[in-house]
Amino acid sequence: MPERILIVGGAGFIGSCLAIGLKKLHPEWQIICLDNLRRRGSELNLPRLKSCGIQFVYGDIRTAADLDPVALNADCIIDCAAEPSVLAGFSSPQYVLQTNLLGTVNVLELARQTGASLLFLSTSRVYPIASVKSVKLLELPNRFAIAPEQTLPGISELGISEDFPLKGHRSLYGATKLASELLIEEYREAYNVPAIINRCGLITGAWQMGKVDQGVCGLWVAAHYFQKSLNYIGFGGSGKQVRDLLHVEDLLRLVNYQLEHFAEFDGEVFNVGGGLSNSLSLVETTDLCQKITNKSISINPVLEERAGDIPIFITDSSRVMEKTGWRPVIGPEAALQDIYDWIAANEVVLSSIL
Ligand SMILES: NC(=O)c1ccc[n+]([C@@H]2O[C@H](COP(=O)([O-])OP(=O)(O)OC[C@H]3O[C@@H](n4cnc5c(N)ncnc54)[C@H](O)[C@@H]3O)[C@@H](O)[C@H]2O)c1
Repeated sequence: MPERILIVGGAGFIGSCLAIGLKKLHPEWQIICLDNLRRRGSELNLPRLKSCGIQFVYGDIRTAADLDPVALNADCIIDCAAEPSVLAGFSSPQYVLQTNLLGTVNVLELARQTGASLLFLSTSRVYPIASVKSVKLLELPNRFAIAPEQTLPGISELGISEDFPLKGHRSLYGATKLASELLIEEYREAYNVPAIINRCGLITGAWQMGKVDQGVCGLWVAAHYFQKSLNYIGFGGSGKQVRDLLHVEDLLRLVNYQLEHFAEFDGEVFNVGGGLSNSLSLVETTDLCQKITNKSISINPVLEERAGDIPIFITDSSRVMEKTGWRPVIGPEAALQDIYDWIAANEVVLSSIL
């Protein structure tokens, strides 16, 4: 069992929720969060971390000197530091490459020097865009659905599994994550750095600083709450594009289990998501937001797709569920309600961020 945990990206949405959740589950653990506070709103997490007895260190994973093996000598590193937007890599490659790829090298070097294990948050975006777009779909009144007959391996009505082909372009975001996965495998082999990789689908919940290019559930609830307009972008402007949602508290339960049984899962790469029963189209998300906020807003169809957009992603997490017994328990409506309650409780400060 680890006793000292370093979470890089620990002031971000997932990093801070894992830090606080793990500290509550294991008050005796020493948890350090390192972050460069690049994500707008991550600074709001600093008092939350402090009040839970979690140490914060300002640092940048692009800078090897910020990852001092003496000061940051942990049993386990959880890597949540990234530029998490798929779109970011289409406007400028530098930050995505420096943080998501070179940053991983620096984190791996820290793990090698300190003997720490590494739990890495990868992404469903490692799966190539053209292949995901080639999945045969059904068009239902409010959503796309995966058709029963498919030609590619690793795809079924349950979603995309780890057996889905990896050949093809996937955005710089996805490529830096897949390249990080490969480097992690090499450090495991060459330097015995124990590692678990979770390829996460859409993660959501309170404290996600949703914006147009990342954190769609937070964006949707906030737009309803603050009465801002939205767009249904691409795919005919129909809002039928679908994602599965995983509440961050469900992710916390999995990560906690993995930390407690690290040796059992060392070397594993898992798809981790809410799955088909926790999936929503944008239209369905709008319906739930109207119900929860009691407000409706104008949502405009935009016919042109954005680079990297895909009509559907549903995570088939069968493998991690079989191996761990873990199951998501928080459904989409409860997840959106959680975001609403958080915004309502922090309306003033969030009105300038969301
Ligand atoms: N949220 C999702 O739906 C989702 C889905 C799949 C994978 N992931 C992965 O999970 C991880 C966490 O994502 P998140 O949703 O919490 O995003 P987030 O933007 O809320 O958190 C990332 C944190 O990393 C910090 N950061 C960025 N660059 C840094 C750098 N160079 N050095 C130090 N800190 C830096 C940011 O300030 C931010 O606090 C990322 O690796 C992301 O790729 C997230």
